[in-house]
Amino acid sequence: MRKLVYYVAVTLDGFIAGPDGADPSGPNGFWPIPDDYLRHLVAEYPETLPGPARQAFGITGEGSRFDTVLEGRHSYEIGLAAGVTDAYPHLRHLVFSRTLAESPDPAVEVVSDDPVATVRELKRHDGRDIWVVGGGALAGALYPEIDQLIVKLAPTTIGAGIPLFGRGAAFEPRVWRLTGHTVLGSGAIFLTYDRAPAEAGPA
Ligand SMILES: NC(=O)c1ccc[n+]([C@@H]2O[C@H](COP(=O)([O-])OP(=O)(O)OC[C@H]3O[C@@H](n4cnc5c(N)ncnc54)[C@H](OP(=O)(O)O)[C@@H]3O)[C@@H](O)[C@H]2O)c1
Repeated sequence: MRKLVYYVAVTLDGFIAGPDGADPSGPNGFWPIPDDYLRHLVAEYPETLPGPARQAFGITGEGSRFDTVLEGRHSYEIGLAAGVTDAYPHLRHLVFSRTLAESPDPAVEVVSDDPVATVRELKRHDGRDIWVVGGGALAGALYPEIDQLIVKLAPTTIGAGIPLFGRGAAFEPRVWRLTGHTVLGSGAIFLTYDRAPAEAGPA
């Protein structure tokens, strides 16, 4: 069955963005994007690069991991403010919002239904894996459905910001199994964790 994968950049202290909710890797952002990091993204995760970046790098390949991306409204609006109505035209793009009245782009599906129910329905159909791009609030809502974490750990601390699963996440410990890692010379580490199967209870 296709997996729900939270593929996300995280600081060493567990944040995906600063407290202001702006784009941390944008022109005024604090996120380091060294050359080896960019090369790794292009080689391994080409479909996760936004359309304008794919154009700039001449990337036309579909990639092999994801065919669908899920995004929270706050994250989507960062691209929208920059004039990008669909940052991922090469993927099926669902934006979760209970306030957006209509989609700004015919290719972007605005979904007001429960994200968990939506993901369960997506998983019933064949396809490549489903990527939760973020942000924290959407990932927190989808926490029970996430099958794999791909963490792009940045050699950065920021002290405060939006946590990996948002500010409203519940306390729900879960064990993950390390299934892959790549250490880059610049200090970033890509860590892949699969959700460990639930331990069998007493017979
Ligand atoms: N480091 C990374 O890789 C990465 C990736 C993506 C985003 N980010 C960052 O994440 C930040 C935004 O994250 P965020 O946590 O503020 O917002 P978010 O998760 O992007 O969006 C939250 C919005 O999603 C909608 N939503 C629909 N159903 C929901 C549900 N059941 N639970 C929660 N939200 C639901 C709501 O929109 P309505 O209010 O319209 O109903 C909610 O306000 C930005 O700073 C962005 O740069 C970082």
